[in-house]
Amino acid sequence: MSIHPTETVRTEMERTAPDGEPVLSLRGAAVRVGGRTLWSGVDLTVGAGEFTAVLGPNGVGKSTLVKVLLGLLPAVAGEVRVLGAAPGGHNTAVGYLPQRRNFDASVRIRGLDVVRLGLDGDSWGIPVPFLNRAKRRAARERVEEVVELVGATAYAHRPIGQCSGGEQQRLLIAQALVRRPRVLLLDEPLDSLDLPNQGAVAALLGRICHQEGVSVLMVAHDVNPILHHLDRVVYIADGGALCGTPTEVITSETLTRLYRTPVEVLRTSDGRLVVVGQPEAPAIHTDRHPHGGS
Ligand SMILES: Nc1ncnc2c1ncn2[C@@H]1O[C@H](COP(=O)(O)OP(=O)(O)OP(=O)(O)O)[C@@H](O)[C@H]1O
Ligand SMILES: [Mg+2]
Repeated sequence: MSIHPTETVRTEMERTAPDGEPVLSLRGAAVRVGGRTLWSGVDLTVGAGEFTAVLGPNGVGKSTLVKVLLGLLPAVAGEVRVLGAAPGGHNTAVGYLPQRRNFDASVRIRGLDVVRLGLDGDSWGIPVPFLNRAKRRAARERVEEVVELVGATAYAHRPIGQCSGGEQQRLLIAQALVRRPRVLLLDEPLDSLDLPNQGAVAALLGRICHQEGVSVLMVAHDVNPILHHLDRVVYIADGGALCGTPTEVITSETLTRLYRTPVEVLRTSDGRLVVVGQPEAPAIHTDRHPHGGS
């Protein structure tokens, strides 16, 4: 069964940023890559401090959605707004963690300096020593603060190539956070982490949303580690998207239909939802794109 155009399960409430605009919004949006429409008719509203997961099989256009929100790729139909403006216009207010990044063991740059690049990365070539002392101290303090927020203080002085995948991930989340963005776009930040680390990073992201008021939109393959932190879920499949709260979208019937394979949603004794049989859990996630690699 097709889910095109977008089904919005929950009646749309206006979830707005303090200035009255939704933080992210798509209205009837469509995108084309390589002459092919990946999805169309997509409606989505994300409010301030909301945690949204983007789910769906390989190759359906999850990373492409993130690129549209970054302004790297235009929507060919409909309207896309980020913090009340066209995408790409608010770059310092939007933090981004791309898909599939890791540092080779030979990379000597310290974790702290990787985080610092989130502040200075766009001023490469401007000699940092010429920043005045107060600015340098403020930058150093902000880096230390955000490293502490993600729980990376113990290893942030080490070369990042010698940090584990989970440690690198936290440092990269710190880098994306260092400019105090209002929106954080994360493409599979839990990929390659073991289960305890997935849970810890998911809890960290939940805190960043709900305590710091940052809107987090993350692409994920396994919904279980993040499920009870989520405010909204977007499933992309069949050229459209299904949006709603986790309890509305994450049902056996809906997931079985979207993944075209039996998926069961169970409720545990403490009231949590668990998805069983969902394909493409991280352990078996490979680049199995139906139309070639991304
Ligand atoms: N520049 C491009 N030119 C042609 N095709 C592209 C381009 N970029 C992406 N695609 C294709 O668009 C589709 C969607 O890519 P995208 O990376 O958004 O998928 P995804 O849902 O993030 O998949 P995955 O779960 O594997 O990360 C893929 O089939 C990919 O090969
Ligand atoms: Mg992707």
